[in-house]
Amino acid sequence: TKKGFIFDLDGVIVDTAKYHFLAWKKLAKRIGMDFSETQNEQLKGVSRKRSLEKILAWGNKTLSEAEFNQLMSAKNDDYLSYIEKMDDSEVLPDIAKTLDFLIGKGQAVALGSASKNAVPILKKVHLLDKFEAIVDGNDVSKAKPDPEVFLNASELLKVKPEDCIVFEDSVAGVQAANIAKMLSIGIGDKKNLHEADYVFKDFTEISEDFLNDIMSNKIN
Ligand code: G6P
Ligand code: MG
Repeated sequence: TKKGFIFDLDGVIVDTAKYHFLAWKKLAKRIGMDFSETQNEQLKGVSRKRSLEKILAWGNKTLSEAEFNQLMSAKNDDYLSYIEKMDDSEVLPDIAKTLDFLIGKGQAVALGSASKNAVPILKKVHLLDKFEAIVDGNDVSKAKPDPEVFLNASELLKVKPEDCIVFEDSVAGVQAANIAKMLSIGIGDKKNLHEADYVFKDFTEISEDFLNDIMSNKIN
């Protein structure tokens, strides 16, 4: 069967989750707050605006709209300064190989990310042309765990949600995939991603046999 393989970007395709972390940490410090790994985990997959709202709520802070917008753009400028220096070496292990394998098998491949920086990042690491469809933070209004981003991707790929597979490193993203009735594959720590149908540390643990089993409906 032709399946739709939908990849999250940050923390799945590229190792940018660490740059989001550094940029949020710096911002938190600027407003006199600490920022922990646990809090960071809760921001994965969450839009830039919603992330700042959460941070401010954790610190019991209220800001004017102007201050809020200023902090959002400061965070993004800081984040972009890391992105500028990125190259192909920051593509996570076996991602390019997996994309080529799926494309070679005639499968539909899409990006489903909350990031507004998705296209420039994919260009930077030379993976943009691998994706038949791209749905990113510029296209969706409802953030993960709302399934909008993945449902849009399924529609663009012309593959039913039940025949789509989502690779996600965030709790919110796994929940979005589950709500969309897609097969959810967590990339990262089993402890955090226990709601996923399957969890792998990274793509080196995902065998071609496993992907073939998905395509032949042995796994669904
Ligand atoms: C992804 C990341 C989040 C990030 C969001 C928005 O979902 O996991 O950490 O906040 O994208 O990214 P952006 O590049 O638009 O700030
Ligand atoms: Mg992610």
